[in-house]
Order: sequence, then C-alpha cells, then structure tokens
Amino acid sequence: MASGTTPESAERATPDWLFKKLDELFRFGLDAAATAENAKCAKYLTKTDDALSTPWQGYGPVFLNPPYSRGQLALWLKKTVEEAAKGTVVVTVLPGDFGTRWFATVWSSARFILFLGGRVKFNGISSAAKFPTVIAVFGPPELTAYPSDCPCCTSRLLASVAPGSKVITNF
Ligand SMILES: C[S@@+](CC[C@H](N)C(=O)[O-])C[C@H]1O[C@@H](n2cnc3c(N)ncnc32)[C@H](O)[C@@H]1O
Repeated sequence: MASGTTPESAERATPDWLFKKLDELFRFGLDAAATAENAKCAKYLTKTDDALSTPWQGYGPVFLNPPYSRGQLALWLKKTVEEAAKGTVVVTVLPGDFGTRWFATVWSSARFILFLGGRVKFNGISSAAKFPTVIAVFGPPELTAYPSDCPCCTSRLLASVAPGSKVITNF
C-alpha cells in the first residue's frame, strides 16, 4: 500500500496544528493509538494496553490515528465501527486509499469524511506524506451530527480545519 508499510511510519504522529484544530471541535478524551511519547491526550492506549481489545467508552470523543501497516487498518476500522455503534464518537486520521477493501468501511460507515488538501507532514517522518489524508468521523446511529446538532454546521466546522479541504456528509 502506498500509504506506508515502513517501520518508520508506525510511529508517524499527527502534526500539532491538525490535532489542535480537531481537538478544538471535538474535545477528545482518549487517544486510542499512542505511546507515552506521542500521546495527544492525557488518557491514551498503547500497544501494551492493546486498544483493539480494550473498550473505548466512557472517555468522551476518541482520537485515532492508527498504525497504517499492512492489515492493520481493517482491524482498527472494525473496532472503530463497533465502538461507534456503542455510542462513542471516533475521529480517525486515515490515508486516502479510496479503492481498498478497508476504505469501503469508511465509505459505508463514517458520518463525515474530510478530504485534506495537499499532503500532511506527520511528526517523526522526514518528509510530507506521499498519500492524501482524510479525517473520517464515526458516531452512534442516533447521532446525525457532532459537535454541532446539524450536519451542515458540522460540515462547515470540519471544512474549516484546513484551507482547501472538502467534506462529504454520509447519511
Ligand atoms: C500512527 S501512530 C499515532 C501516534 C499518535 N497517537 C498521534 O497521532 O500523534 C500509531 C500508534 O499506535 C500505537 N499502537 C500500535 N498498536 C497499538 C495497539 N494495539 N493499541 C494501542 N496503540 C497501538 C503505535 O505504537 C503508535 O504510537
């Protein structure tokens, strides 16, 4: 996959500007994929905790930039969809690999998909990503929009995260 199978990419951390913008909207209570060094929230889950087999409920909105290595994204998206169905809002940072099997889960289950213009320069990586980045927002079935109550407002808020980005509302 073009989006990164090198060992370096496993610790590819979200740039501060992007996390800050998203956190202003969502007020995250948990970073579900982290190390003590790259955690974006005071509460976080690491490989040792194994976020894939740990509940994400009870923290508020969850931030997730999962490992992109081969086979991982399908597992993390399955878990994301399960946690969203139980009531948790999960905001994911994903490679824009639109034709992959795992991305079919994003097309079908994400509430909002923000397509970031340009290429993101992740922390811990020497150059900008060679792939596009999307922010996909998952939530429980009864929730049509978050953090606002209305899909149009949420779309506008998401689009304001970065200039040149576009949002798809997926209901
Ligand atoms: C792409 S990095 C994201 C880091 C950071 N949270 C950020 O975006 O700034 C993915 C992180 O997931 C961690 N990780 C890998 N497997 C995990 C697991 N099963 N449970 C929790 N974290 C895991 C890795 O150690 C790595 O720090």
